[in-house]
Amino acid sequence: MVEANAKFSVKNLFNVEGRVAVITGGSTGIGLMIAQAFANNGARVYVTSRRAETLENAAKKWGSELVHPQGKIIPVTADITDKASIKTLAKEIAKQEKHIDVLVNNAGIDGDTSSVEKGHESVQALQKELWNEEFQMWQDVYKTNVIGYFFTTVAFLPLLSAAARGNHTGSVINISSISGITRTTQHHYAYNTSKAATIQLNLLLAQELRRPGVKVRVNSIAPGIFPSEMTTSGSDDKNKSAIPVDESYGEKKGIPAGRPGREEDMAQAALLLACNEYMYGQVVAVDGGYLLEHP
Ligand SMILES: NC(=O)c1ccc[n+]([C@@H]2O[C@H](COP(=O)([O-])OP(=O)(O)OC[C@H]3O[C@@H](n4cnc5c(N)ncnc54)[C@H](OP(=O)(O)O)[C@@H]3O)[C@@H](O)[C@H]2O)c1
Repeated sequence: MVEANAKFSVKNLFNVEGRVAVITGGSTGIGLMIAQAFANNGARVYVTSRRAETLENAAKKWGSELVHPQGKIIPVTADITDKASIKTLAKEIAKQEKHIDVLVNNAGIDGDTSSVEKGHESVQALQKELWNEEFQMWQDVYKTNVIGYFFTTVAFLPLLSAAARGNHTGSVINISSISGITRTTQHHYAYNTSKAATIQLNLLLAQELRRPGVKVRVNSIAPGIFPSEMTTSGSDDKNKSAIPVDESYGEKKGIPAGRPGREEDMAQAALLLACNEYMYGQVVAVDGGYLLEHP
């Protein structure tokens, strides 16, 4: 009886000890939260982004005192908008690892904003405002948030597939956004359009990579508002960001939880998608109820 009960302990349900993870954009914000979630539970985590110093700082500050002795945070620079760089990244990791259990496609950019409220003034005012956006900005956002996710997944396919044994499969977690689901622009057409495309890419990859010759699960987390370099003015000497919150925060932002997301909220979602081997093709919103107020 005790043995039959043991599988229900949290330690067994969310066991990532000895697992290997790769997290793009893993040096700050949401990527770093997920890196800490895996590494503090015994996974070897490769964090990757363009700024070498930021990466090394994340590994030094957060990787040196992990609560699990097997955990590691290993920095590797790469640019997910450059195919050669993605290929080099996959090759470098293949020299160290026979397989990877989790790829988190997280590196993203937000692009420019427009004052869409100009539409209350006049059609001319709105047209002038929106015409200021540039093709290049739209392309850059799409290139990172969608095409980068696609090629990074493709580059890691053999290593992800090699993780399959018994009930276990390698898996991809695509960090999309509630911005790709809500019907409001949130002032950024390009970003929200790109994130809707991330969600569609998630579905298409889930569908194709389930094939018996591949056996890779694909799911997505659609975060609400979390502190990061993207959502604040930057990060501190530990690569962490903070969003000031007062009592009216929840009402102002339309968030029933009354606060931005915590690191633990993101960690729990990432561990769930990595460990639940029965989840395929899902998009899990972790948003404090934002989408209920902004459907
Ligand atoms: N924070 C939120 O509220 C929120 C909500 C919904 C979704 N998201 C999504 O969450 C993901 C993480 O963003 P974040 O909010 O945590 O912001 P962040 O702190 O700015 O993190 C983004 C990371 O991506 C890296 N990056 C950007 N372009 C890259 C490229 N071409 N190649 C490799 N790395 C690149 C950045 O590092 P380098 O500049 O050094 O490359 C940075 O570490 C994004 O996809 C974002 O859209 C965030």
